Amino acid sequence: VTAAATAVALCLTTGSALAACDDGEVVIKFSHVTNSDKHPKGIAASLLEKRVNEEMNGKACMEVFPNSTLYNDDKVLEALLQGDVQLAAPSLSKFEKFTKQYRIFDLPFMFKNVDAVDAFQGSENGQALKDSMQKRGLQGLAFWHNGMKQMSANKPLISPEDANGLKFRVQSSDVLVAQMEAIGGSPQKMAFSEVYGALQQGVVDGQENTWSNIYGKKFFEVQDGVTETNHGILDYLVVTSVDWLDSLDADVRDQFLTIMEEVTATRNAEAIAVNAAAKQSIIDAGGEIRTLSEEQRAAWVEAMKPVWEQFAGDVGQDMIDAAQAINA
Ligand code: LMR
Repeated sequence: VTAAATAVALCLTTGSALAACDDGEVVIKFSHVTNSDKHPKGIAASLLEKRVNEEMNGKACMEVFPNSTLYNDDKVLEALLQGDVQLAAPSLSKFEKFTKQYRIFDLPFMFKNVDAVDAFQGSENGQALKDSMQKRGLQGLAFWHNGMKQMSANKPLISPEDANGLKFRVQSSDVLVAQMEAIGGSPQKMAFSEVYGALQQGVVDGQENTWSNIYGKKFFEVQDGVTETNHGILDYLVVTSVDWLDSLDADVRDQFLTIMEEVTATRNAEAIAVNAAAKQSIIDAGGEIRTLSEEQRAAWVEAMKPVWEQFAGDVGQDMIDAAQAINA
């Protein structure tokens, strides 16, 4: 048996190294759940991978596993803590087991657009959220934008009453459960990878997501149409484990964090455009998109906004006030 064959065998059994890695390089596995192209997170992850592999060659190597090929979001944070992967970027809705503070991002109509989310995340309050799970072993590195969420179902959704009695897939967030209950829907938490099949088979009637997710996973093909509600935000935390970050040599850590910061700035600036392109692709593919008049949208605000009261205690009224001041 050659040394190379032994190394490959070792690789396969321990899963500790990647094909592209040389001896002595820090291995960085990044697991996520979306498409790798035409998607804000997918594109950002690929750019990060490219830059780390080019600029840190000899020191570190990265491989991205998109499309839930390695882990679903409900497993990936545990995998991170166990050292099976080193990076993940779940949506902010997926951190409930670790903190209730992130619930602010799920509250419907909390942020008027992605720019408001960006300003909040960049504020002292937002920055503190990245460090808020250190005691649980998780370190937030960056917020990555996706965009505003839209509603879809197997029938037209114009008024919130249209959602009455419909089953909706939601991410694993109690705020989103409450939001769907507020419009008379019946929410079901479900992994992202299962949504298309569940919509197709009628396990659920509808869902909410961004244009890039609705396009990337073809949800529009198994829905009557998508209503442009812009009722909430779907954003990400790029997260690692405190232990892993601490284990890096200072120069490796600094270079890695600098690349992370630059990729974040570059790609966050493009997130709105990526979602606009996905929306256009849905139209081009024959998908039905419905827009709401100001009055019609106001009815959704009125139906959903009472949810804030239920979660103000978890989130903190000061945080809500800070977010609202940014909207103004
Ligand atoms: C979802 O589960 O719908 C999203 O969090 C998926 C994603 O990563 O955008």
